[in-house]
Amino acid sequence: MDKYVIHGGRRLCGSVEINGAKNAAVAILPAVILSDSPCRIENLPDISDVKNAAYILEEMGAAVSYPDRHTMEIDPRPIATHTVSAGVARRMRGSYYFIGALLGRCRRALVPLPGGCDFGVRPIDQHLKGFEALGCEHSLDNGGMISVTAPHDLHGAHIYLDVVSVGATMNIMLTAAKALGVTVIENAAREPHVVDLANFLNTMGADIRGAGTDTIKIHGVQQLRGGTYAIIPDQIEAGTYMLAAAATHGDVTVKNVTPKHLESISAKLVEMGVTVEEGDDSVRVVCSGQLRKCNVKTLPHPGFPTDMQPQITTLLTTAGGISMVTEGIFSGGRFKYVDELRNMGAKITVEGSLAVVEGVPMLKGAPVRALDLRAGVAMVLAGLMADGVTQVENIKFIERGYENIVDKLAGLGADIHLQRTPDSYGSNYRLG
Ligand code: EPU
Repeated sequence: MDKYVIHGGRRLCGSVEINGAKNAAVAILPAVILSDSPCRIENLPDISDVKNAAYILEEMGAAVSYPDRHTMEIDPRPIATHTVSAGVARRMRGSYYFIGALLGRCRRALVPLPGGCDFGVRPIDQHLKGFEALGCEHSLDNGGMISVTAPHDLHGAHIYLDVVSVGATMNIMLTAAKALGVTVIENAAREPHVVDLANFLNTMGADIRGAGTDTIKIHGVQQLRGGTYAIIPDQIEAGTYMLAAAATHGDVTVKNVTPKHLESISAKLVEMGVTVEEGDDSVRVVCSGQLRKCNVKTLPHPGFPTDMQPQITTLLTTAGGISMVTEGIFSGGRFKYVDELRNMGAKITVEGSLAVVEGVPMLKGAPVRALDLRAGVAMVLAGLMADGVTQVENIKFIERGYENIVDKLAGLGADIHLQRTPDSYGSNYRLG
């Protein structure tokens, strides 16, 4: 099994470039099928979730080419199906965006239930409620394939989301972009990738206003055309490197970011005694003293992102005092990784959605597992902070969302390398 081997205790210094946003890319690639002509998508991260989305497009019949590692040209015109086969689609959460996009394209979709990180139950009832309001019916077969069909025209509707859902907001937007009339999504998610999808659809000719607020208004249009679009920088990748700098008492400039998207993360670092200097498209993180405790609650944007919860909990394991971390998005708690941190000497107790973290002087290197994408990268942070050697197993999870993490960290001075086992060479990498 492939693993990362980390000799901890090195101070990270220098600069690191952030790639395009995974959670924008996995929605924008399916959105391309709404277009009646080719699209060129730039600043795509080179990660397995993006390769999987591209694979699904090719499997459906789209012509996909790769002018360079971060750019795809996609001609959706040859697509003659409304089905996404199981397999690759089950490996990723974002495959559910093919439902919204196929409905907009041809008013029917047959798509497997999505996969993705396991944080307990992750329903899609709000997506289905939205599709229903737009004129669709749905059913689920025994094989886990979900069928959504509009027997008549798609029509605009007023939709109030019962929970703030990134996926439901974006999926409804994809279908409503081509529905007749006006759709209003209330209690919409405001994450940067929601805005990025709306901007992409608008460059294709859609009429979407209010993305980034909790009310989004969509005037449906008949036709969307292709074009060129560059994806925003990844908020969570950037935040992870900011915390890596703080975790190693380093001095790191994180480049190619939107500092506004990082404010909730910067605010917590400052509370912990870290200096954060904002540039136009960079943030410099400098940490010289001991980290101070702080309390964190994850919330929808602009609150502290749930996708940074495992990383900040890890950082707090060596902060002075007792910190409380509350998971406010996923009721399952998203705290399974805490057992791995305990193996490294962390003192954490978890009750439901609350983790109480008592700072210890130092973590100790140990063999640990990546349990999901962000929990996995948190183990990398723990390894960088720890005394001794940490081996992180199950790194396929981390490769879903972090491009070149080993080279990027090594470039900042970390002692980390990838140990491949012969039978895993190339697994999952035919996909792009
Ligand atoms: N929810 C429902 N019903 C729904 C949809 C969501 O009850 O129909 C609940 C969820 O169970 C959760 C909350 O609403 O408690 C928020 O879920 P949301 O729909 O926002 O999450 P998601 O669309 O499944 C996306 C990201 C996640 C990220 C969350 C929250 C993608 C592909 N995934 O998931 O990203 O944690 O939003 O910001 O965009 C990651 O990148 O590591 C990751 C897990």
